[in-house]
Amino acid sequence: MTGLLYTVVTAAGPTSRVATALLPTAMDRGWDVHCLATRRAVEVYPEAIAAIEEVLGRPVRTDFHTTVGYSLPDPDAVIVAPATYNTINKWAAGIADTYVLTRLAEQTGRAIPIAVAPYVNTNFAANPVYRRSLDALQEVGIDVVNGPLEPHAPGGGSAPLDAFPWEALLDSVAANRAA
Ligand SMILES: Cc1cc2nc3c(=O)[nH]c(=O)nc-3n(C[C@H](O)[C@H](O)[C@H](O)COP(=O)(O)O)c2cc1C
Repeated sequence: MTGLLYTVVTAAGPTSRVATALLPTAMDRGWDVHCLATRRAVEVYPEAIAAIEEVLGRPVRTDFHTTVGYSLPDPDAVIVAPATYNTINKWAAGIADTYVLTRLAEQTGRAIPIAVAPYVNTNFAANPVYRRSLDALQEVGIDVVNGPLEPHAPGGGSAPLDAFPWEALLDSVAANRAA
């Protein structure tokens, strides 16, 4: 067993691929996977969330133990993918006003491997706040796997879903866990 892995999904296009492109490989590599989703991800991609639950055989977490009756143990590694502009900026700023942001805030200083793959369009990427947030996350040891270098055109029509770096995310947390 490699350990306990949180995969955090947010309301961006590649969430529709998590069940097929990330989870089977993560499980094959020995991770015990729990998925945490933002409320907006559940609203925008309900079929994707259902598919994730089917693959994992456990609920996707969106809320605290006070609502669902049990707490998740702290993970050995975290993958945040896809990460929206919104989640990146709030996480980097230390905001903890939702379940997902609270769990990210709690894990960020624990010296565990954390890898994030943003998925933003060129308009989001051009906002200086976004660059500052990625820099802040990298400064505390978080691996930004595709960074701000590959934003897609606004509108979503030509969004590069096939290029999303699922394997690189898994390689990152494995390498940093071993290090
Ligand atoms: C269909 C749809 C697709 C979206 N795709 C993206 C995206 O690829 N990247 C992004 O940063 N925001 C995207 N957004 C906007 C975010 O969903 C929005 O900023 C939301 O507040 C993010 O919430 P979260 O970070 O809590 O998931 C999309 C919204 C919709 C409705």
